[in-house]
Amino acid sequence: MLALSASLHVLLSVTQMVRYAQTAAAPAPEPRIKKFQIYRWDPDTPGDKPRMQTYEIDLNTCGPMVLDALIKIKNEIDPTLTFRRSCREGICGSCAMNINGGNTLACLNKIDTNTSKPIKIYPLPHMYVVKDLVPDMSNFYAQYKSIEPYLKKKDENQEGKQQYFQSVEDRQKLDGLYECILCACCSTSCPSYWWNGDKYLGPAVLMQAYRWMIDSRDEFTEERLSKLQDPFSLYRCHTIMNCTKTCPKGLNPGRAIAEIKKMMATYKEKKEAAL
Ligand SMILES: *[C@@H]1O[C@H](CO)[C@@H](O)[C@H](O)[C@H]1NC(C)=O
Ligand SMILES: *[C@@H]1O[C@H](CO)[C@@H](O)[C@H](O)[C@H]1NC(C)=O
Ligand code: SF4
Ligand code: SF4
Ligand code: FES
Repeated sequence: MLALSASLHVLLSVTQMVRYAQTAAAPAPEPRIKKFQIYRWDPDTPGDKPRMQTYEIDLNTCGPMVLDALIKIKNEIDPTLTFRRSCREGICGSCAMNINGGNTLACLNKIDTNTSKPIKIYPLPHMYVVKDLVPDMSNFYAQYKSIEPYLKKKDENQEGKQQYFQSVEDRQKLDGLYECILCACCSTSCPSYWWNGDKYLGPAVLMQAYRWMIDSRDEFTEERLSKLQDPFSLYRCHTIMNCTKTCPKGLNPGRAIAEIKKMMATYKEKKEAAL
């Protein structure tokens, strides 16, 4: 046993030596310096004005995604650079920002390796900025809360007593809707949301409103529609479709809004017939 582990040790040492020798012999690769131009603004520094700051990163020592570069800048160059991130795999929605003119998730966005073009990074457009790349999401979350994004039943006596069954077909109707990670890339690419973000709910929140309207287990479809009847909540959408173009999860909030408008027409007809 002793002899075996001793010879294993020798074997390991030999492979390590070979590896070290190879590393030493390899010529250092040409650095590939990429420029990142990043929006900076710190409201806690009196008199600070928004500005662009340029950072240079050697792509040979950086991961492939824009978020890798941001983390590298923060760790190695400038710890004051501020941005949100958590999962680094397109699930939490917190790294949403405007990269080279398009809203997307920094963790799913590959760095363009052409080093003659700088990458420009801004916070999500037309949002109040907390600091640097961090937008204030309060209004967006309040709007999400306003659509009551949860299952609602008329008779709550049965709550928690048994499962609410759903057929396979009815469950499939939620595909393409439930995957939304509420990153707000779509809403903040929508010109109607830019100009009326206080009163127009925007594509992300409307798609979730639709998701609950068509859930076969939910019993508040008409009430949900009725709440969107004013001229702003829903009808500020003019089908410009920036939302669908930009969604980093490949979802189609523009289509969901069109479906709500159809349901709304039927709902209004029904209400008028009942008068
Ligand atoms: C890199 O970008 C520059 C400027 O846009 C362009 O002229 C050049 O052809 C690009 N190089 C490659 C390899 O794509
Ligand atoms: C939205 O669409 C308009 C018009 O097509 C375009 O000018 C604008 O850059 C787009 N915005 C975003 C953030 O995609
Ligand atoms: S389709 Fe509607 S929600 Fe989507 S970008 Fe256009 S106006 Fe905004
Ligand atoms: S629909 Fe897409 S872009 Fe809009 S919030 Fe959901 S995941 Fe983000
Ligand atoms: S870090 Fe979670 S979506 Fe990018």
